Amino acid sequence: MTGVAPTPIGERVEIGAAPGVQPVLEIRDLSIAYATVAGDLKAVSHVDLKLAPGEVVGLAGESGSGKSTLALGACRLLRPPAIIIGGDVIYRGRRIGPDGVNILEQNAKQLRELRWREIAIVFQSAMNALNPVLRVRDQMGDVLDAHLKLSREQRRDRLASLLDLVGIPRERLKSYPHELSGGMRQRVMIAMALAVDPEVVIMDEPTTALDVVVQREILAEIAELQKELQFAVLFITHDLSLLLEVADRIAILYGGRLLELGNSEEIHHRTAHPYTRGLLDSFPSVHGPRRSLAGIPGSPPDLRSIPPGCPFQPRCRFSRVECAAIDMALLPVPGSTTNHTTACPFEMPDASGVVASSALTAEGTAVPTELSVNGDRKS
Ligand SMILES: Nc1ncnc2c1ncn2[C@@H]1O[C@H](COP(=O)(O)OP(=O)(O)O)[C@@H](O)[C@H]1O
Ligand code: SF4
Ligand SMILES: [Mg+2]
Repeated sequence: MTGVAPTPIGERVEIGAAPGVQPVLEIRDLSIAYATVAGDLKAVSHVDLKLAPGEVVGLAGESGSGKSTLALGACRLLRPPAIIIGGDVIYRGRRIGPDGVNILEQNAKQLRELRWREIAIVFQSAMNALNPVLRVRDQMGDVLDAHLKLSREQRRDRLASLLDLVGIPRERLKSYPHELSGGMRQRVMIAMALAVDPEVVIMDEPTTALDVVVQREILAEIAELQKELQFAVLFITHDLSLLLEVADRIAILYGGRLLELGNSEEIHHRTAHPYTRGLLDSFPSVHGPRRSLAGIPGSPPDLRSIPPGCPFQPRCRFSRVECAAIDMALLPVPGSTTNHTTACPFEMPDASGVVASSALTAEGTAVPTELSVNGDRKS
């Protein structure tokens, strides 16, 4: 890649999560539903999430857990039948000032000014997100024209240097999206996202559609660009093992609710929620020893009728009667000196995730297991 030397993913500096730092993006108590003929489907429920300046926050969860709805809803990019039921999304970029603006209260013109310029999104499918009948030059140029006043030369130079930034030859400015490989299209999306220097970039499964080699190249490039340009990233993926390498902090979403939040090290080595443990056991580790993978039995909850208590209960190997009555607030994990929090009030018997065999029946169903209590909440 020209302009930016690739470095291994994972050499990250811990930034942004320091106490007292004002978040650049703050999602507060956000709830979003889809109105369907079979009733309201609650895709996001009471989510709180902060993104500090220059921080990379990962959002992980199975398909259908509400990741895209949360990200798109926070930027007001959802269309009916989606309804934002409640919450606030405060953006405090340098150009906006410390008081910030509530994105959920902005009018259409104000939203146009915020998008790309302040908050940009890289979607999973560049083929769908790029306009197939416009050359790369014209669609990237549209973003520049909407937000910056540039002379012809400045505009031409900026377009060329944006392609340099993501390692695409400048002559590709003349190409149409279908003339590019999948990896190149995704790089064009990243260049477009960075075109007018946003402070927050939301990446919704930006590499999921790509093969593993290209995926890792692009991840390394994103990490390098982020370090160089210092934008904050909300990185969404179903692949938690990938987030462990790129994110400063990780949020785990399940059935539209946050189940665990902590820095990558805590999520990896001091996993507090059984669902997070299940996700970790579902993916191979790139660097760790070979081990057999275990999926999570069962399927995600029906979001039209979420039962009270813990939504993970039907699939949880530690489930007990009290789980049906817990309230889903995030609790501090005992012993954590950072903001590591979990929605499970019980401590897993073995923090490494190794379950005592007596906890499972031959059919794999949970039997009551003696668990200690997390935090100060009782069920
Ligand atoms: N337009 C829609 N109408 C009805 N339900 C939707 C719509 N879009 C998404 N959903 C539902 O909302 C839930 C969350 O979806 P989504 O945010 O796409 O999850 P993720 O990005 O984690 O895969 C899923 O149950 C999905 O079926
Ligand atoms: S132990 Fe109970 S509360 Fe904790 S994740 Fe399992 S079902 Fe949910
Ligand atoms: Mg999605």
